[in-house]
Amino acid sequence: MKRTSAFEDGFLFGAATSSYQIEGAWDEDGKGESIWDRFAHTAGTIEDATTADVACDHVHRLDEDLDLMATLGLDAYRFSVSWPRVLPSGRRRANPTGLDFYDRLVDGLLAHGIRPFITLYHWDLPQTLQDAGGWTVRETTDAFCEFADIVSRRLGDRVDDWITLNEPFVSAVVGHWEGRHAPGHHSEDETIAAIHHLLLAHGRSVSVLRENVPEARVGITNVHQPVHPGSSSKPDRRAADAFDALLNRAFLDPLVGRDYPASLPFDRARLDEWIHSGDLETIAAPLDFLGVNYYTRRIVRDPQTPEHGNEPPTTFEIGEHTEMGWEVYPQGLFEVLERLHRDYAFPCYYITENGAAYPDHVDDGRVRDDERIAYLDRHLWQATRVVEAGIPLRGYFVWSLLDNFEWSYGYTKRFGLVYVDFATGARTPKSSYHWYRALIARRPIA
Ligand code: FCB
Repeated sequence: MKRTSAFEDGFLFGAATSSYQIEGAWDEDGKGESIWDRFAHTAGTIEDATTADVACDHVHRLDEDLDLMATLGLDAYRFSVSWPRVLPSGRRRANPTGLDFYDRLVDGLLAHGIRPFITLYHWDLPQTLQDAGGWTVRETTDAFCEFADIVSRRLGDRVDDWITLNEPFVSAVVGHWEGRHAPGHHSEDETIAAIHHLLLAHGRSVSVLRENVPEARVGITNVHQPVHPGSSSKPDRRAADAFDALLNRAFLDPLVGRDYPASLPFDRARLDEWIHSGDLETIAAPLDFLGVNYYTRRIVRDPQTPEHGNEPPTTFEIGEHTEMGWEVYPQGLFEVLERLHRDYAFPCYYITENGAAYPDHVDDGRVRDDERIAYLDRHLWQATRVVEAGIPLRGYFVWSLLDNFEWSYGYTKRFGLVYVDFATGARTPKSSYHWYRALIARRPIA
C-alpha cells in the first residue's frame, strides 16, 4: 500500500502520554506537589471541577498499560517524567520510589521491544520551585539541570531518545499570560521571562544529557501551527505575523543560533532584561531532532480593527472541527514540516503528537470512533507527502495512548486510542486502536 511504503523500515509508529495526565498517585510514595496538583485543586480552574489525583491510575496499572502497548505493536512510546515524583521539592533530595517507577516503565518497554522517548518536562513543575518564582526566575534553569542529571544518570543506560521540554509556548503563554494553565497567571512580564528561561533550561540541559548519555539523541518538542491572516488587510497580516513570531519563531529562531524574532508582540527591551551574555549560544546547542506537535492551524485577525468587535484575535474557524473546537486541517502538517525544513533544516523530525478529541461512548463493549480514524488517516497521508518530499521525518506518535486528564478541560475531552472509564479505570481499546495496530503491522520490511 502506497502510504505505508513511504514509511520505510526504521520509521517509528508510536503513541504519547504525559505524567500528570495519566499517572495518578499524586501524593503517594514520597511524590511532591506539582503546579498542576495545586492548580487543579483550586476551585474554578477545571471545566468539570476534577483533578488528576487518580487520572488513569497508570502508576498502579503499569503492567496492563504495557500489555496494551505491546498488543498495539508500538515501535516507540513517548512519556514524560514527573519532576516532583523524582525530586519532591524540586532539587537535591531524590525520591528513590519515584525513580524506581520509571525504571520499571523503561524495562517493561524494552522487554516488549518498544523504544522509550523521554520528555523531561511536560508542565508539572514542582510547586516548591513555583513558590520561588518558577519559570520567571533564572534559578529554575539550575534546578532543571539537576533534574535532567538525575533522570539521565538513572535511565541513560537504556534510553537514547531525550526530549527536554514539551511545548514551551504553552507553558509560557497559556500558563503565565492566558492563565488557563498552571500556574494560572495573567502577566505579560512573567510570560516574557518564562519564554527565555524555558529555552535557557532546554539549552543548558542538552550538555547534561550528552555528558551522561554518550549515545543520546536530544531534541525539544514544540507545538507548531500554520498561522494565516483572517483577511488580506494589512492589519490582519501584521497581527498574523506577530502571532506567528510568538507561537512558532520564538521557539525556533534561538534554537538555530538566530536571535529572537523581531516581530514579537511586545517591546524587545522587556526580553533583553532577562538575557545574559552567552545565553543565546547556550540555547543554540546543536540538536539531533525537532519534535513537532501538530493539531490544527490558526486564523489571526487584528483585534483593533473595528468590524472585528470583541472577537478574540486568534480563532479556529472555517472547516470541520474536533470536539476541542480545533479546525481539522491535515495539509497544515505538510505546510509546517516543509517550512521547518526550508527555514531551519533540523537533522530530522518526529511528529511527537497528533490526534483528536471526539465524544466517544462504549456501546456493547465497543467504541466506534470512526471520526478519529479519519482524522489520523488524513494526517498520516500528509506525513507520507512529507517523507516523499525528502524531508527527514522519522516517526509519528499518536496523542494519545489513553483517554486522560485534558488539562483545564478535565475529563471532558477524550483523545485516546484506548477508552478509559474514569470511575473504574477499565480500559477498552477503541476501533482506532485496532486500525492503528493493523496499519503498523502492514508496514513493509525492507
Ligand atoms: C498538547 C499537549 C498534550 C495534550 C494535547 C491535546 O498541547 O502537549 O498534553 O493536551 O495538546
